[in-house]
Order: sequence, then C-alpha cells, then structure tokens
Amino acid sequence: MKVMVIGGGGREHAVIRKLKENPEITEIFALPGNGGIAADAACVPIGAKDIASIVSFAEDNGIDYAVVTPDDPLVLGCVDALEEIGVPCFGPRSEAAQIEGSKVFAKNLMKQYGIPTARYEVFTDPEAALAYVRSCPIPIVVKADGLALGKGVVVARSREEAEQAVRESMENHKFGKSGERLVIEEFLEGPEVSVLAFTDGKTIVPMVSSMDHKCAWDGDKGPNTGGMGTVAPNPYYTRALAKRCMKEIFLPTVAAMNAEGRPFKGCLYFGLMLTKDGPKVIEYNCRFGDPETQVVLPLLETDLFTVMRAVTEERLAEVEVKFKNASACCVILASKGYPGSYEKGYPIELPADPAGQIFVAGAARKDGKLVTSGGRVLGCTAVADSLPRAIEAAYALADSVKFENAFCRRDIGRRALQAKAEV
Ligand code: AMP
Ligand code: GLY
Repeated sequence: MKVMVIGGGGREHAVIRKLKENPEITEIFALPGNGGIAADAACVPIGAKDIASIVSFAEDNGIDYAVVTPDDPLVLGCVDALEEIGVPCFGPRSEAAQIEGSKVFAKNLMKQYGIPTARYEVFTDPEAALAYVRSCPIPIVVKADGLALGKGVVVARSREEAEQAVRESMENHKFGKSGERLVIEEFLEGPEVSVLAFTDGKTIVPMVSSMDHKCAWDGDKGPNTGGMGTVAPNPYYTRALAKRCMKEIFLPTVAAMNAEGRPFKGCLYFGLMLTKDGPKVIEYNCRFGDPETQVVLPLLETDLFTVMRAVTEERLAEVEVKFKNASACCVILASKGYPGSYEKGYPIELPADPAGQIFVAGAARKDGKLVTSGGRVLGCTAVADSLPRAIEAAYALADSVKFENAFCRRDIGRRALQAKAEV
C-alpha cells in the first residue's frame, strides 16, 4: 500500500514512524515532509495547502490512503478533494473541520448543545468590541475567529491589553480575515489537559491524556509558543474525570456534529480546563496536536494504520485501541529567539544510537547534512515505566543532540510531577 501524509512537522514525523510499523504499507510519501522526515519517508516538495497539487500527486502515483494532519489543508477541503478522486483519507471534511476553523462556530455549537465552555460574546464591529472590553471583568480572553497559526488568542490581564488585542485584530488586521470576527470570553482557571480522540462519527475512543507546555521559558514564563514539550498521561486527568468528560463533553460533541450534518471523522482534539466547576472546553482542534502526538503515539500499542482505516470505514467500534501502561515525555529543542526571530542553517548532530525517538520539525537537508530551518527544530521523546524516568530519559536524549543556538525548557513535566503528588 502507498500512503501519503500531508504536513511536515514533528507531529507528522511521529505519525509516519508509527505507520511504518504496519507491514502492509510499502511506501510512505510526506508532502512536504522535512529534512529529518526524509530518513523515514519519501519527501515531495508540495506544500500542505496546495490542494490541487496534492490531488494530482495522489492520482499520478496511485496513492491508496492519505493522512491529512495539519489544520489548514483540513479546513481548506483537502479530504473532500481526495475523496472525490476515490482516495480514502484519515481526517475530517472541511465542514467538520470548522470545529477548529471557526471559533464562533465551535462556541455556538457548545452553547446550543450544552457542552461546558467559557461564557462568551461574538463581535464583528470593532467599536462594540472595544466598548465591551472597557467594562467587562478582567482578565478577559480575546480570540480571533479563524486560524491564526496558533497566535490568535490573547489572555488579557489588563484593560489596555484587551483593547490592544481588539485593535490589532479588527483594525490592524493582524490575522487577516481570521481576525475580523472575535470571540471575547470569560477567563477560566485550572490545570489544562489535552485529550486526542479517534472518532468515526459513531464511536469515540479517547487516547491517553497529555499535558502541553506552551510558554517559551521555565516556570511558564515568556511568550506563547506552539508547545515546548509534553508529557503523557496527564496526572490531573483521573479516571473519574475521564468518565465525566466522556459523558458531558466527548459524546455530546460527536452527537452535536452529527445533528449539524457535519459528522466528524478523524482525530478530534479536546483542549480542556479543569475548573472548580468541572471540566470545560477551551478549544477544539480538528487534528492531532503538536507536540502532544509525540508523546501519545509512542504509547499506542494497537497498530495505528489499523485504527485509522477503521475510522475511515466507520467501524471503529470493532477495534480495540490499547495504550501502554507507561509514561512518555517529549522535550522540544528550539532555535534561540523562538517564538520571535531566530537564525537558521546550523548543522545538527544527532546521536548515532538514540535512546528514544527524535521527531524532526524544523530541519532541512543541505549537502546531505541536517541543518536547522525552523523555530522548533526537533522533539526528543522517551517512554519509561514511570513519569520521572521518562522525563530523565527525554532530557538525556535532548542533551545528546547538538546544534548551535539550541535551547529548551528544563522543567518539562515538573508540574505533572507536583500534580502526581497532589492528586
Ligand atoms: P489556543 O491558542 O487556543 O491553544 O489558546 C492558548 C492558550 O490560551 C490556552 O492553552 C489557554 O492556556 C489559554 N486560554 C484560552 N482560552 C482561555 C480562557 N477562556 N481562560 C483562560 N485561559 C485561556
Ligand atoms: N499543542 C496544541 C496544538 O496542537 O494546537
């Protein structure tokens, strides 16, 4: 079988590594992939948003199955276009991907179907939005409606900050069309949990829970990033909470999407906050999270391709999806300066025999050598029988990778360890 994976980050690398475990798959193509993924798949220089070229490539190369991982192509209808030419896919169609593509859609869905989330207002008029933030309780959260490269959310801790967020989005068009409509919502507090779930629109199977670390620096300080590291499972997410989330959030979301005529098939990501009033949805993503995937998939015991095909064919109920009874930690090595500006092109030295898995995100191949090409360069994942051991091993692996200007947080998993002591 010939499989293609759309995307080119650490998450796609983790998906590809897992797909390689299936003996039926003879060839894997990554569009566009990256310099590190090239060791595990044939990289094809077609951008993830270039739907027309993706479709032509699938047709010309007899692709049997496609995994569409990033948000942009999903929202742009990549799955719809591939299905039209008869290529089965893992991932939602465009109308279901709106659950991530439009925050207004997601919030209205939750309100209509009674799914717990922060209270909110929607604004299309800058003056009305400004008037609102001049009188609302502070802190307040300002969110661009559409996709904004993960930068569309501002947790404003002062009125000035809230006003500035509204102006940047609606008047200065910082996020283009994505920011012309805003959701302004209540500030919630509590530990955050990421839950990725397989769903075929009928059955939903949550994967092992995880914890992201979004701030750039130790102690959750510094600017927001795409994620500096993850651990799984998330110790705050107890069995009792998992049961409650299934009943109050996961099943109602699947049912709501069906009732709206937008059945969701693929990986549905629930960004949850465990507030004192119970778990609430902070955000939905229509895809695997990055870098959550880099800890969740290494813990998956069941063959990934078998699960994916069952999702596509709407027979997920027939598959037993099992996870290892172990812990995983992923430490991201980034380029100094990220998420701001940073230098590229530094050679990367990888250990010959890594004790763990290295998932490459921002690296290119130059004269046969791997060189840095992005902010988040790679993720070092270790799996162990306990969380402290997984953290220790992930850092040992990260310390064995060398490139100039590398930096990482030194406290990935620390909060989880504290929680383990509390929960
Ligand atoms: P996002 O870019 O949508 O993942 O949001 C970034 C981060 O903003 C989340 O991970 C939360 O930490 C924070 N956030 C989003 N919505 C809220 C909220 N209503 N209350 C408090 N924090 C929030
Ligand atoms: N790690 C959060 C995300 O993938 O959006």
